[in-house]
Amino acid sequence: MGRDLYQHTTKNLARARSGRLSIATTLAFLVVIGPAFGQAILEGERFHPATAKQGMVATSHTLATEVALDVLRDGGNAVDAAVTAGFALAVTQPRSGNIGGGGFMLISRGDGSEPEAIDYREKAPAAATETMFQDKSGNVVRDRSRFTHLAAGVPGTVAGLALALERHGTISLERALAPAIRLAREGFIVPHRFTEGLEQARERLERWPATLATFYRPDGSAWQPGERFHQPELADTLQRIADHGVKGFYAGETARLIADEMARHGGPITLEDLKDYRPEVRTPVHGTYRGYDIFSMSPPSSGGTHIVQILNILEGFPMADFGHNSADAIHHMAEAMKLAYADRSKYLGDTDYVDVPLEGLTSKGYAEELRKTINSEKARPASDINPGQPAAWESPETTHFSVVDKWGNAVSNTYTINFSYGSGITVEGAGFLLNNEMDDFSARPGVPNAYGLIGGEANKVEPGKRMLSSMSPTIVRKDGKNVLVTGSPGGSRIITTTLQVILNVIDHGMNIQTAVSVPRMHHQWLPDEIRIEQGISPDTIRLLEDRGHTVVRGSAMGAIQSIMIDEDGTLYGGADPRRSTSSAMGY
Ligand code: GLY
Repeated sequence: MGRDLYQHTTKNLARARSGRLSIATTLAFLVVIGPAFGQAILEGERFHPATAKQGMVATSHTLATEVALDVLRDGGNAVDAAVTAGFALAVTQPRSGNIGGGGFMLISRGDGSEPEAIDYREKAPAAATETMFQDKSGNVVRDRSRFTHLAAGVPGTVAGLALALERHGTISLERALAPAIRLAREGFIVPHRFTEGLEQARERLERWPATLATFYRPDGSAWQPGERFHQPELADTLQRIADHGVKGFYAGETARLIADEMARHGGPITLEDLKDYRPEVRTPVHGTYRGYDIFSMSPPSSGGTHIVQILNILEGFPMADFGHNSADAIHHMAEAMKLAYADRSKYLGDTDYVDVPLEGLTSKGYAEELRKTINSEKARPASDINPGQPAAWESPETTHFSVVDKWGNAVSNTYTINFSYGSGITVEGAGFLLNNEMDDFSARPGVPNAYGLIGGEANKVEPGKRMLSSMSPTIVRKDGKNVLVTGSPGGSRIITTTLQVILNVIDHGMNIQTAVSVPRMHHQWLPDEIRIEQGISPDTIRLLEDRGHTVVRGSAMGAIQSIMIDEDGTLYGGADPRRSTSSAMGY
């Protein structure tokens, strides 16, 4: 039996305490008012969530959290606030927030009606071909799908956010865009992470004059922490959307600027591609885990399918008894992850183009078959499951935000331009970066993408098709009520990051801030290694190596922004300290 989700939700925290808690203030509380937290710490809690009664927003940038929270305070609902956050992040966090990319929004209303997903993933332009990222001999030309105008899929974010608002919102698109336009036009104070990102990506970004002019100082250096950064062209682009709706992006001046940018550099996106772009309403993947209902993203994302598949496998193991991040827990998670990622490489793709055996992959029966192949004492080599040669490149720049309103409506949204700063190419005159999402297709079946993920025929490039994703916006329900809203960036590690927050809450009884903060692990079948964050003990690593695992210490994985809803409606926000600008705030 799973533990009750509410078991350790730090009810002992003073409810009167303000819900406005950023990572910095959370840490400050721990240092300054340590004794007040003594009991919670003794109970095993290491971090404390923001708490609130009426509404909660968790995003990866404080300014986006604030403007979304204002919408909730003014009587808007979770979708209104989420769309407002989505546009604000496009201004304050250009490395991953975007209008030049795409993503997925999961919406679960407080009335218990069926959750729905808005798929605004980018699409391959009409001129895309199966071999566009190969040379004449059929070898994959890697940079072509990453750092050229061919790398960009037709952006979906503006259409997706507008559709969410149209279907579920109560405010106008103009209102949702207003804070983003203000932040772009009046500027905002640059945090350290902003400067650091631009300095790190300089070599890749400075190749493009419009990118240099848009994101760097006139002398070419990066804006420094504490300075005010303005984006007048982006403000104009956003204003055109406010004035003309989605046509203000997919037609008219902005569409012309995108098409001209493409034409100047041999890129394939045309005015026609932009005019034809449509987001889709999809049914989320559904599964159960120890009495909870799990809703997550369906294809063209692989996220929901494999979260449910891995949970189904793990349900047969006593995860709570193993203990969080014990060798037993990590071993069983790794074995289940390997099996799921091997299936991903073969079966997953855009269901508008290929048949994906979703029911089979997410069935309890199939999980039982897979579970029988797991040896509790010994790692199964990935080569026994399927062969492959992964690449070393990685870049986890996607961003996630979660919102819950006073009616219990929940929104879980993950969107991306793929790499940090996407393709690195700014649309001249429009002030925003283009994605490099075409790299998420199989450039050639069997050849890994940037995340080392192997894709199959199901994910080959086809005109108008959506490339396979790992984004996993997820909402967990109990008895028809939303209880956990979560999701993460992290490339191939999105699935396992989101999975571990679910396990941390359901199996290990953690409060939401602890669940997002504790160290994580990852296995994706190939490379055949368990990747761990700092904080897993050396003797645990030795025990895993004794079972035949290769264990590799990597950098931080994911930036999960989550909200938990207690039995009595109290909201708990958990912002991921791995991204220093993360914040969860409520009222
Ligand atoms: N671009 C990363 C993903 O969609 O999974």
